[in-house]
Amino acid sequence: MAEDFKVTPWEVTGAIDYDVLMKRFGTTPIDQALLERLAKYGKVHPMLRRGIFYTHRDLDWLLDRYDQGDRFVLYTGRGPSGNTHLGHLMPWIFNKWVQDIFKVDMLFQMTDDEKFLFKDLTLHDTRSMAYENALDFVALGFDPDHTRIIVDTENIKTLYPVALRVAKKITLSTAKAVFGFNGASNIGSIFFTSMEAVPAFLPSEEAGRPVPVLIPAGIDQDPHFRVARDVAPGLSYPKPCMLYCKMFPGLNGGDKMSSSDENATIYTTDTPKAVKKKVGRAFTGGCVSVEEQRQKGGNPEVCAVFKYNYYLFEYDDVKLNELADKCRRGEILCGECKVALTQKINVFLEAHQAKREEAKEIVQKMTYGGFKW
Ligand code: TRP
Repeated sequence: MAEDFKVTPWEVTGAIDYDVLMKRFGTTPIDQALLERLAKYGKVHPMLRRGIFYTHRDLDWLLDRYDQGDRFVLYTGRGPSGNTHLGHLMPWIFNKWVQDIFKVDMLFQMTDDEKFLFKDLTLHDTRSMAYENALDFVALGFDPDHTRIIVDTENIKTLYPVALRVAKKITLSTAKAVFGFNGASNIGSIFFTSMEAVPAFLPSEEAGRPVPVLIPAGIDQDPHFRVARDVAPGLSYPKPCMLYCKMFPGLNGGDKMSSSDENATIYTTDTPKAVKKKVGRAFTGGCVSVEEQRQKGGNPEVCAVFKYNYYLFEYDDVKLNELADKCRRGEILCGECKVALTQKINVFLEAHQAKREEAKEIVQKMTYGGFKW
């Protein structure tokens, strides 16, 4: 039997079985019928079609409400602990698609408090990372008139009353059971989940009526929102609806791109040379020798380079399948695939970095309540 895996908001280990994880968390698969329903609003995003966003909570209900004229608010976030990498961008790109298709308002929460509490970082570090990460978020082109960025330590006056109401409904036993806290956990970390719940309830608070909220996020965030959904009815808020994606893989063949392995992580600010070097070292599904690979073919299933095409860099299904077939037949070698992927990533990053510069002009306008960066 394969070694067991673990997925929590603060730790992902082992080889993730995403079907098992869905069952453990109790979320609903996105089936064909739901995909067909989504297709009525606009061309379904490849991340849905390819099962990257693969599971949800109450999405049908949200769409029913939308069909009845009840607009939802989009909410996602980022814990600013370091530079933005491709794994962070992936769900944001998806959020942008949702905003475009449904024409909805969006909240982006930056949990600088969380990263201060859970990592060896100062509040100064997390606050400055929040700005850097916000530039990447803004660079993706969210509608500046309909998108607001929350920074927890800046917006605390607005967030705190809602966080308190949430916190009062969550016992220490629940927090321990859901997140694995113990006697050595700092007390701020135990409170934190009530902060991540706030933007799910803020739209209702502001409107003075129940406003549906959709949260597209990495599935590692589900523990927070399970708890948030449990307390919602007791506070007269609608339960937030969830749309979860798989973790963006590392270049080293690992299941999650993580800053703990810098060489397997592509940052939005990387130079073309750095990208070339990192992709050059990527884990592939190739054989030890060229002769062997020509004969036996490679295995795209386990190949990080192929996964990058699948997740972000080749959205043309015909081309993707062609790539997989050629690999299996030994007609294309890992070196060629790496060169092609390097090229695609660098084209993407060049455009992103230009938009990231322009974002410096827009980012102030998008702060929640107008705080100063
Ligand atoms: N906790 C998340 C992180 O560590 C940040 C976050 C806050 C978030 N609110 C969210 C992520 C809502 C997804 C959805 O990155």
